[in-house]
Order: sequence, then C-alpha cells, then structure tokens
Amino acid sequence: MYICLCNNINSKKVNYALEKGVSSTKKIYSFYKCKPKCGKCIDLMNCIVEKDADKIKSL
Ligand code: FES
Repeated sequence: MYICLCNNINSKKVNYALEKGVSSTKKIYSFYKCKPKCGKCIDLMNCIVEKDADKIKSL
C-alpha cells in the first residue's frame, strides 16, 4: 500500500525504516532523503509510526 505517493514511499518502506530504528514521521522522510510535499500522507504516516491501528482504519 502506498503511504506517500509524492515520494514513492509504500508501507514496506515505512516498516523497513521503523525496523532500522527510525522513530518519528519526520525521520522517515529524511531516512529516504526526501521531504513531505503535498502533506496528504502525514496523518497516515503518524498513525503507522505510532502503530495506531484503530486510527488507520478510520482514515
Ligand atoms: S503523499 Fe506524501 S507528500 Fe504527498
């Protein structure tokens, strides 16, 4: 599933970054040497970083 279309970041990439010890949304973008562009993915990214499954379902 794509999380951030602007930067081509899918859930696999987010999980990989989390496994590598990345601990915040901001750091996920820097891990992939990019920055949020449109910002539509920020909420979803936050939920994934916080492992908030209920919030993810409601988005
Ligand atoms: S979808 Fe992530 S910045 Fe646009």
